[in-house]
Amino acid sequence: MAILITGGAGYIGSHTCLELLNIGYEVVVVDNLSNSNKESLDRVDKITGKHIQFYNIDLLDRENLEAVFMENKIDAVIHFAGFKAVGESVELPLSYYQNNITGTIILCQVMQKYNVKKMVFSSSATVYSPTTSGAISEDSPLGATNPYGRTKLMIEEILRDLYVSDNSWSISLLRYFNPVGSHISGRIGEDPNGIPNNLTPYITQVAVGKLNQLRIFGDDYPTSDGTGVRDYIHVVDLAKGHLKAIDKVMIVTGVEAYNLGTGKGYSVLEMVHAFEQTSGKSIPYIIVDRRPGDVAVCYADSSKAKRELGWVAERGIEEMCADAWRWQLNNPNGYHDVEDKVIIGQGS
Ligand code: NAD
Ligand code: UD1
Repeated sequence: MAILITGGAGYIGSHTCLELLNIGYEVVVVDNLSNSNKESLDRVDKITGKHIQFYNIDLLDRENLEAVFMENKIDAVIHFAGFKAVGESVELPLSYYQNNITGTIILCQVMQKYNVKKMVFSSSATVYSPTTSGAISEDSPLGATNPYGRTKLMIEEILRDLYVSDNSWSISLLRYFNPVGSHISGRIGEDPNGIPNNLTPYITQVAVGKLNQLRIFGDDYPTSDGTGVRDYIHVVDLAKGHLKAIDKVMIVTGVEAYNLGTGKGYSVLEMVHAFEQTSGKSIPYIIVDRRPGDVAVCYADSSKAKRELGWVAERGIEEMCADAWRWQLNNPNGYHDVEDKVIIGQGS
């Protein structure tokens, strides 16, 4: 059975390809490498001893996308491809709407034409209204606050409309909380361009000496230590969530949203201390103003994913920190050091 992975060379996509290959799926990747490096897929090939069929194609390029469906017998699609930087989306809303929304529409049109109607879509916890307090369930109020988040919400709506028009579609909307960590081998991981926006890659780059100090955005939130609380989820647990969603779309039609998180929140300072403990490095930090748009607390109620997909996150904060650190230490410049040096990896 072949699964098409759009955006498969990226952070979450490459980890998902690895898990799919490990359980025997054929994997076909379409990625334009706008935010990734083909080296990630070469390393997945090496780790698994299997081969990914790769196409360097933009989703907006309908003709070449169709060729992928003609050349391969695709059973289902996991759709990761998209731009994801919140701040950039405020600067470049039209690029975000074009890439994320038009890209998804073209993909769905091609899928429809080739009668492939099973999709797992990368949504985000960012679709929830920031006014929500406590554990966020799939029924919590929606309301994105920036163009990136709105692309996710709009795509969810488009996919729901598609199902209404044709009940033979089967679609899982996976709303990720905060993905962190990397595969235990230390050979694939998160490789942000430039200065990271997100907490964990920032911490690991301070620890490895690429950045001087962490800026903590606010210590006056109504949380135990005043810093923001998030539901960090290990990327391998997240990847395995996609396997469960694929199982589901293979057997039932409909559109369902699922939160993928651990259900447990950690503050920024708790993350810093956990990372210091695991890595043995100290993380200098300063407290600065709150980052506009940030909420105090955000964590998932993932009971629906447990109930309906049979999925729960298994990896805790120590593993998240240890695996993120192993990747950073082995690859201080991400995939730009193309040589695949395994210093302290632990196999597949
Ligand atoms: P990523 O940037 O590492 O991966 C996205 C991949 O899509 C990249 O390889 C990029 O080159 C590719 N891509 C982008 N536009 C494309 C296009 N038009 N045609 C072909 N390929 C294209 O991001 P990620 O962290 O792996 O995230 C994957 C998905 O999950 C994204 O849709 C993102 O919005 C969503 N998501 C991510 C997070 C997170 O924190 N990482 C949280 C919630 C949701
Ligand atoms: C960010 C995105 C969100 C996306 C989510 C998952 C923004 C505004 N939101 O959310 O759309 O779905 O990632 O990847 O970018 N922090 C610091 N210093 C830093 C970086 C972060 O103190 O240098 C703090 C933040 O204030 C927050 C926590 O760390 O409290 C986590 O931040 P981050 O990793 O950026 O994730 P989110 O803000 O949850």
